[in-house]
Amino acid sequence: ELSPIDKAKFVAARQAAEFVESGMRVGLGTGSTAAWLVRCLGEKVREEGLRIKGVPTSTRTAELARDVGLEVISLDEAKWLDLTIDGADEFDTELSLIKGGGGALLQEKIVATASDQMIVIADAAKEVRMLGGFPLPVEVIPFGWQSTQALVEEILISMDVMGRQATMRMNGDRPFVTDEANHIIDLHLSRIGNPRQLSMVLNQIPGVVENGLFIDICDKVVIGHSDGRVEVRD
Ligand code: A5P
Repeated sequence: ELSPIDKAKFVAARQAAEFVESGMRVGLGTGSTAAWLVRCLGEKVREEGLRIKGVPTSTRTAELARDVGLEVISLDEAKWLDLTIDGADEFDTELSLIKGGGGALLQEKIVATASDQMIVIADAAKEVRMLGGFPLPVEVIPFGWQSTQALVEEILISMDVMGRQATMRMNGDRPFVTDEANHIIDLHLSRIGNPRQLSMVLNQIPGVVENGLFIDICDKVVIGHSDGRVEVRD
């Protein structure tokens, strides 16, 4: 028996799996919701003869995809994808997202951007009026990360964003390391009035590789509720 939150994630994933057709190259997201999607696709491959090639957005997802019997290829082998399905930490009415709670934002953004379509699957609690309640992850290269963090903090002060705390994501007593061997600085902002501007400004800092704001990338959000209802926003 699934917990209410897992039920919500599962029904969203199951519904989104219906958009996947044989012959497609599909980007596979990262996180607990995306894991449900990967399992659903595995079942369709085994039981319905679905034929797809999957491009994972993390080593974690690659492992799960292989375990459930999906054919896994790299983005460079696929070159271009028909569809990416991924979770998110927050989404707003414009379908802008915060992603990267699981630390895979860089590969997720590259894969989603290389896809004709991106569908987000989420439980209803992730819908917000304004992004920013969830800490915004910023991926930075290890070299000089403290100087990079100081620059990020300066920029936050110069911009009209609430909350200005930047913290290095840790794994025990060491900085968390991403699949691309970078670190993550989490920005505790509470509300992001102008996500587009913030994203552009952050990405102009030399030590910043990417940030977790996904703007004009997501085409559809499939929202799952714990009572089994599913809504689609596009
Ligand atoms: C991974 O880096 C994130 O972008 C995930 O998509 C996000 O954290 C959602 O994860 P859950 O589905 O586990 O909430």
